[in-house]
Amino acid sequence: MSDQSVSNQAPQAGFPQPRPEVERLHAYSAPLEGRRQMLRLDFNENTIGPSPQVVEALRAIPADHIAIYPEYDGLQQAVIANLGLPLHPQQVGLFNGVDAAIHAIFHAYGDRGETLLTTSPTFGYYSPCAQMQGMAIEAIPYEGETFAFPLAAIREALLHPRSGQPPRLLLICNPNNPTGTRLAPERILELAAAAPQTLVVVDELYEAFTGDSVMSLADFNATPNLLVLRSLAKTAGLAGLRIGFAIGHAAVVDRISRVTGPYDINSFAVTAAFAALKDQAYVDDYVAQVIEARAWMAEQLRAAGVRHHVEGGNYLLIWPQGDPAAVDQALREAGILVRAMTGKPLIDGSLRVSIGTLEQMQRFWAAYQRIEALPA
Ligand SMILES: Cc1ncc(COP(=O)(O)O)c(C=O)c1O
Repeated sequence: MSDQSVSNQAPQAGFPQPRPEVERLHAYSAPLEGRRQMLRLDFNENTIGPSPQVVEALRAIPADHIAIYPEYDGLQQAVIANLGLPLHPQQVGLFNGVDAAIHAIFHAYGDRGETLLTTSPTFGYYSPCAQMQGMAIEAIPYEGETFAFPLAAIREALLHPRSGQPPRLLLICNPNNPTGTRLAPERILELAAAAPQTLVVVDELYEAFTGDSVMSLADFNATPNLLVLRSLAKTAGLAGLRIGFAIGHAAVVDRISRVTGPYDINSFAVTAAFAALKDQAYVDDYVAQVIEARAWMAEQLRAAGVRHHVEGGNYLLIWPQGDPAAVDQALREAGILVRAMTGKPLIDGSLRVSIGTLEQMQRFWAAYQRIEALPA
């Protein structure tokens, strides 16, 4: 038998070649394995799981439903009812997680030679999506010690681009992952109104922890170039099932939906989404617990004199005194996962710590104090 050893090196001549953008791409990868028995403060997930009503609905799925393709009827309406806004179902796009929505946005709107305008550091999936389309990326750094939103620089790059061509896409993560930076929704609407040629995408995955959504102010007829991303992954605890939404003008939602497969969201995610959207009280209660735990954590860090940054979102940044990789490893040995921000512009040397319940953060803090030899 010939040597079957596996390599991801490009085969030499005679093999089909992928697009050059794909050949150059480093796929977005995340350390997903071996997390189940740990306290998971590394992916900003819900740390207590979804509503019991979600679990019940999933358990009640009859076996024959597994054999048929998923049905989506009524899901857009359920999203709208949950939002409590006067939207039309065609304004809500359904996706296999917000990641799939982001991918579809780039697929539909991002062309070779066009520009993605965004901030830095921000969520790691925007860049590979731009690169796979052959787009240029202009990533403007957050400002100062507080990682303030670079509003003047974004406005300049949007309205007076050096290339003379307006950016095709502006991606704003609000609040930003990982800095937590918040931008007032009014500013986002002003940017969208001032740049009608640019699709302004607001990634609101963590808006529940700040209440800074553009949704209640947005008029998608006046600013059809505004698109809002929402997910049930984090607050509602459905990360493993993959379901997210893109909300905007029906024409934009239609274009993005054209580049997805007809059954990309599976039946389990649909059933879970209906149940989760109905039990908003569960999500609200979890969010309130996280906000309380975030305030407690910030107070401990302040009192102990630990450099940290906390703003929006269910996460914060901590700069350990010791080697961040060693602290990360010691926490892992204590059964706690966090995310080292190694190599990220502006925040290299920090750890991003997701916020769970107060009890979970007390466990984290006890381990952190021990590892960093902080007075208890
Ligand atoms: C800012 C941001 N956007 C999108 C996503 C992806 O969300 P989903 O799980 O719905 O694909 C994440 C996940 O970490 C995120 O942090």
